[in-house]
Amino acid sequence: MDTLQLDFREAMAHVSAPVTVITTTVDGVPHGSTVSAFASLSITPPMVFLALDNRGSLVDRIRSTRRFGVNVLAADQAAVAMRFATPGIPDRFEGLAWHDDHGLPRLDQTVAWLRCDDVTFAAGGDHTVLLGTVAAAATTPRDSLTYYLRQFGSAGAAISSGDAQ
Ligand SMILES: Cc1cc2nc3c(=O)[nH]c(=O)nc-3n(C[C@H](O)[C@H](O)[C@H](O)COP(=O)(O)O)c2cc1C
Repeated sequence: MDTLQLDFREAMAHVSAPVTVITTTVDGVPHGSTVSAFASLSITPPMVFLALDNRGSLVDRIRSTRRFGVNVLAADQAAVAMRFATPGIPDRFEGLAWHDDHGLPRLDQTVAWLRCDDVTFAAGGDHTVLLGTVAAAATTPRDSLTYYLRQFGSAGAAISSGDAQ
């Protein structure tokens, strides 16, 4: 890595990020990977975008299904995030509580769930940007998992805007 890449990586480590597990099902087999490069894109229609490393396996799987699920992890799910980021585990879902939601793997106990289809793809350097249209969304109020300075943390209720006394 050159100096710019190192500086860039350090700057981005200072951006607090959400932690999601992006899932899809190919030939009846569930797949999922931990992804922090995820954000809201549009409200009309509701859309999200995320970035997947071209060296990973999930991007080609979603190219074949053209749909994905977004599991926004809760503060107590750091171990789940690590499991879905670890190569070489034959079945990342084994031993976890999850179910099929309209053909997509949905983890239990998450903060939020989004079911996305009509996925389109755009090149983004060594990653691929995926744009997904949201077909369904659900939320369970609990603290969410964050990734900041290469460590897991949590985000809870918003700070009051100021007039509480
Ligand atoms: C906190 C965290 C965030 C991550 N964010 C991303 C991401 O945004 N995009 C990505 O492609 N990989 C990300 N990764 C790495 C993947 O989860 C990891 O490379 C995984 O093994 C890829 O699985 P796959 O090859 O089955 O797709 C992240 C890992 C961690 C621990």
